[in-house]
Amino acid sequence: MPLVNTTEMFKKAYEGGYAIGAFNVNNMEIVQGITEAAKETNSPLILQVSAGARKYANHTYLMKLIEAALVETDLPIAVHLDHGDSFELCKSCIDGGFTSVMIDGSHLPFEENIALTKKVVEYAHAHGVTVEGELGRLAGVEDDINVSVEDSSYTKPEEVEEFVSRTGVDSLAIAIGTSHGAFKFTGEAHLRFDILEEVGRRLPGFPIVLHGASSVIPEYVDMINKFGGSMPGAKGVPEDMLRKAASMAVCKINIDSDLRLAMTAAVRKVFVENPSEFDPRKYLGPARAEIKKLVTNKLINVLGCAGKA
Ligand code: G3H
Ligand code: 13P
Ligand code: ZN
Repeated sequence: MPLVNTTEMFKKAYEGGYAIGAFNVNNMEIVQGITEAAKETNSPLILQVSAGARKYANHTYLMKLIEAALVETDLPIAVHLDHGDSFELCKSCIDGGFTSVMIDGSHLPFEENIALTKKVVEYAHAHGVTVEGELGRLAGVEDDINVSVEDSSYTKPEEVEEFVSRTGVDSLAIAIGTSHGAFKFTGEAHLRFDILEEVGRRLPGFPIVLHGASSVIPEYVDMINKFGGSMPGAKGVPEDMLRKAASMAVCKINIDSDLRLAMTAAVRKVFVENPSEFDPRKYLGPARAEIKKLVTNKLINVLGCAGKA
């Protein structure tokens, strides 16, 4: 099956009350762990690539890894640019075979966000590529830029209809209290489901995207801390909140930090338990297996997209 854009998968997810997992990929073991889990559970999938991932691994290497995953799985897979920050970057990804891009103008004034997003939509749609825009600003770390809680802002529901109709975007990321990275809440986790509900009411049938949606699985944080790491206070979005969001208008749930934690925990365990080990396959193999286990659980028990490919 060739790569697909997100149109069909979002339509089915919206109607079915589940969400597609959008997992960040940076190397072969991550691609394999995620796609093996999707194959075993027969799940549709979004593999997303950030500017940082593209710089680290190189566009062509990542595309070839994803093409290999297509051959191995025969699943509907979209390859998506995560947090594109310019028209040029989006164009380069579209020209290079991506089937979906995000243009993140959330830091710009409303009119500038609209103008930039519209320009990307025009180019993308002419090439059969779907576009995600963003309104509202998440806190946390993104591509080495740290957005403080004070600089973050919730999405204003009264802006969404105008943004979507004037830009022509295919999906919209909104800010309801999630944040990027492994330290999302200092106290109790709290999300503004009232904003999500109001956005859903104003945009019936329209797919909403949730960024910063890792659960920061406590078992992995404990494992990292036990095997020489230090991540005190790491905390993520509880799984029941993600299930609730998926049953509402959220059709795409972004996960990166949980993959990093699973991989790091597995590698640290090997190094501590087996200090003489120096074959990379002996620590990257367990890391890949841990990613597969993590993603399998997400697809079946959190996102609800298992069996929907
Ligand atoms: O939203 C941020 C993602 O976790 C990607 O992170 O820019 O460090 O690759 P990155
Ligand atoms: P996490 O840091 O919660 O995994 O969020 C990832 C993300 O939103 C990528 O765009
Ligand atoms: Zn994000």
